[in-house]
Amino acid sequence: MTLPMNLHSAADLLRTGGLVAMPTETVYGLGANALDADAVAKVFASKQRPSFDPLIVHVPDPEAAWALAQDVPPLARQLAQAFWPGPLTLVLKKTAVIPGIVSSGLDTVGLRVPDHPVALELLRRAGVPVAAPSANPFGGVSPTRASHVTVPCDAVVDGGPCRTGVESTVVGFDEQGQAVVLRLGGTALEAIEEVVGAAVQVAKPGAKLTSPGMLERHYAPRTPLRLVGDTRSVPVAQRRDQRLGVLVFNPATFVDDAGFVQQWVLSERGDVVDAAARLFDTLRRADDAHLGGLVATPVPDEGLGRAINDRLRRAAVAPGPDPAGQ
Ligand code: TXA
Ligand code: MG
Repeated sequence: MTLPMNLHSAADLLRTGGLVAMPTETVYGLGANALDADAVAKVFASKQRPSFDPLIVHVPDPEAAWALAQDVPPLARQLAQAFWPGPLTLVLKKTAVIPGIVSSGLDTVGLRVPDHPVALELLRRAGVPVAAPSANPFGGVSPTRASHVTVPCDAVVDGGPCRTGVESTVVGFDEQGQAVVLRLGGTALEAIEEVVGAAVQVAKPGAKLTSPGMLERHYAPRTPLRLVGDTRSVPVAQRRDQRLGVLVFNPATFVDDAGFVQQWVLSERGDVVDAAARLFDTLRRADDAHLGGLVATPVPDEGLGRAINDRLRRAAVAPGPDPAGQ
């Protein structure tokens, strides 16, 4: 049974090997003491997460991050200076204090200082680094409110709805210390490029530097999702017959809505930041509507729009035959 927790008890729980779901500015995380391999093992079990997918370690300030890393490239420090606290995870060479289970046996560790007052206070009080993946069953939609957390844990700390709404941008470094984006997320690629002063590569599956968790199908609602360039490609009869809902960026993208049983607009004012904050919440609402399928159109591929399109593409990869008709 999960009881409402004050930060003091939640910090105690973390220190003593418990699992605490905690708010961050991106999504809720399922936290455990990163230095306690048994506690971290419970995180994998609770989420039914495969052991090859490493966890991000959360710390209250950059100094705590550097203490867990070695050979930190100068660019990593520059990026931390620019974006921490914030939705940026730096993948750095780890020190031996991080147990292998945290990083799935890799010699690197993902580190992040979250930009959320409750998370920071909890991390400070706990006094240990906290390994926390998003607090959803593996492959599903990340929680952006305390009430979305359904995975088994000892406590849920409610910090209100998440401001950013998509997970952190994950950045790794090649042998020359150059940055490579391993996952698009809440820190815009353009903003990272501004600090780097050059174009930054986004890793493709199979590349040398990759993120083991970047699976083809991920971030998926239960409702089959189909990503189309334009809703006109879905025949009106099919919309009714298959009880399809539709998800679009802004009211202006809505050229053609006849026959869809329900419709969702990600941002009334057509703003990608606003749309990112509402994405996962909206996918959950679509699940609650018990549709036959959900048709989505991409958002503008700029700023946080890139992360939204990435999530929509992965959500649209069918686990089997696509009941929405493709
Ligand atoms: O915003 C976020 O990042 C949230 C909040 C809770 O901080 N966390 C989150 O964690 O999204 P998770 O576990 O759902 O996703 C972590 C991603 C995975 O794609 C994983 O493969 C990658 O980060 N990652 C973690 N450590 C890594 C490493 N050492 N090397 C490469 N990729 C790593
Ligand atoms: Mg996740």
